[in-house]
Amino acid sequence: MYGQFKLKDNPVILGIESSCDETAAAVIKGETLLSSVIISSASEQAKFGGVVPEIASRAHTDAVDKAVKQALSKAGVTVGMLDAVAVTYGAGLLGALLVGLSFAKSLAYSLNIPLIAVNHIRGHLAAAYLCGKNLKPPYVTLLASGGHTAVLYTKTYTQFEVIGGTSDDAAGEAFDKVARILGLPYPGGPNVQRLAENGKAVIDFPPSYVRSSKALQFSYSGLKTAVINYCHNAKQKGENFNPADVAASFQCAAIDPLVKKTVECAVNRGADTVTAGGGVAANDYLRKSLERECLKHNLKLIIPEKVFCTDNAAMIAAEGLIQYRAGNFAQMDVNACAHIPLK
Ligand code: KG4
Ligand code: ZN
Repeated sequence: MYGQFKLKDNPVILGIESSCDETAAAVIKGETLLSSVIISSASEQAKFGGVVPEIASRAHTDAVDKAVKQALSKAGVTVGMLDAVAVTYGAGLLGALLVGLSFAKSLAYSLNIPLIAVNHIRGHLAAAYLCGKNLKPPYVTLLASGGHTAVLYTKTYTQFEVIGGTSDDAAGEAFDKVARILGLPYPGGPNVQRLAENGKAVIDFPPSYVRSSKALQFSYSGLKTAVINYCHNAKQKGENFNPADVAASFQCAAIDPLVKKTVECAVNRGADTVTAGGGVAANDYLRKSLERECLKHNLKLIIPEKVFCTDNAAMIAAEGLIQYRAGNFAQMDVNACAHIPLK
């Protein structure tokens, strides 16, 4: 009979992530990360210019067992030493999520250890605990991924308030769309960043912040349209334009408001710490700007290593630990969920 677990102070937790095109597994013991393995199908997806769900699911099926075995072996842990399995159950591609979730369910059931169903976005937030061992709520977070853009106020380990978000696209989505406009390959974000490094922010694109809104609100659709129009107009007139300048100008317009508003929120809330998470937090321009602004306002910045900003399983294990300590365990009938609201 599955259930009745003996809980530990510093459990050994296996994290599994398969929501998009990364099959990842990681092991933590208490707050200490023992291993993290990521097997990506991004190069396969690049041939199609983006993530093809069926290809992602098949790649997860091929890689999940390998990723878990490698993570256990690198951690020096056997399956018998595991105290819990934490797995992403959403949001993400349904078929992709089901591969990781089914694997995690079978493992937890056969070992009679808790199964922890992790919200991918909460995983991105928890990544900050991996590099900031002394991080304690309250703090303000800039979350910027392919699906979400928000500034959050984390009150306790399990509760946060959404201070502001985006009214249309997410920041990562905008990076990916601009990459396409500029003819850059998938994955778009890092390629736009690389191109921007050779350019100057000399084009006046509209910033990603909605001034008319009373609440904190970002918007990327106007910025994206401005980039499209700029490139089209130049092409129609037969004028040359510098794609690197377009990338650099877009990057500033997309990121400056995120940084400014995050720091403003921390100051207004009297929080002394800022964290960041999600794929766009791997952007060097964002990291440097946030570092500079936090320093200016005497705020402590805890920003995960780049590899823990983009999709990984260490963040899933880290959130798993928070849920383990809160006693939030899933039943075997838990299902994958393509969409989970941020709040
Ligand atoms: O968090 P993530 O890996 O997956 C989601 O949960 O969405 O974020 C992926 C997003 C993509 O849109 C990708 O283009 C963007 O993060 N990204 C970047 C960079 N690295 C990843 N955007 C800008 N600069 C980067 N260096
Ligand atoms: Zn993600």
